[in-house]
Amino acid sequence: MTSQAEQTDQVVIADDGPVRVIRLNRPEKKNALTQSMYAAITRALREANKSAAIRCVVFAGAPGAFSAGADIGEFLQSAQSGGLRPTTIEFLQALAKNEKPLVAAVGGLAVGIGTTMLLHCDYVVAASSATFATPFTRLGLVPEAASSLLGPRRMGHARAFALLVMGRPLTAAAAKEAGLVNEVVDAARVEETAMAAAREIAALPAGAVAQSRALLRGELDEVIRRIDTETLHFRERLQSAEARAAFTAFLSRSK
Ligand code: COA
Repeated sequence: MTSQAEQTDQVVIADDGPVRVIRLNRPEKKNALTQSMYAAITRALREANKSAAIRCVVFAGAPGAFSAGADIGEFLQSAQSGGLRPTTIEFLQALAKNEKPLVAAVGGLAVGIGTTMLLHCDYVVAASSATFATPFTRLGLVPEAASSLLGPRRMGHARAFALLVMGRPLTAAAAKEAGLVNEVVDAARVEETAMAAAREIAALPAGAVAQSRALLRGELDEVIRRIDTETLHFRERLQSAEARAAFTAFLSRSK
């Protein structure tokens, strides 16, 4: 990365010419996302929207782990203190409202929001070893990030139900077949392939790309309304006995 590198603890933002890379950087926890990470990503997306110089944003993770999803310890704290935190909701909205093309480099596991955030991305490159899973119901929860709307739209109800409700994981090949992923490559080539796609997008006329992207994505209001509805259910589910038991079981498991 060349210019304007900004280092935070667990999210590293670096601008490489017209491409902003937002790297999740909590490898010791498989990039499980905390409130401070959500806030850093939200800031980085909002800044990118305001900057004419940035023409594409790439989400990247750590080797083997794109993201293990929301931090379950924080889920348990949220359950005890009355629900989903504003930082999480702001992140979900920033993701949906983001105006710059989004590319993802999925080098390994993508769980929960690590998978559902990909439904907001425009081009996804995955390692052949990557896996995609959304164990919401197993955790006593419901799908989030408008995945209950965008999932069936992207892959049809049958595949979305198996992924989002039954919690069955997808291999990289199956995720490509389902339309969640554009390209599957060797793990060592994920980032260079994603950067090549990002540069290709960034080289196109920005105004035409922005308008075309907005046309393809359809009504933003519908997505935001779905995030709001999911949030109501999610907040309620977080405090359910089912969810608390699942969080406690994960946090106290012996390995
Ligand atoms: N929240 C909090 N901590 C998490 C986490 C999460 N979502 N995912 C992983 N971690 C932590 C583990 O507790 C472990 O911490 P420790 O070393 O202090 O014990 C560390 O990250 C490494 O994870 P580990 O489980 O040892 O790695 P693994 O390769 O065996 O398994 C997963 C990886 C992702 C399959 C497994 O960690 C997992 O199931 N995580 C929960 C995923 C999830 O349900 N996310 C929420 C979806 S809504």
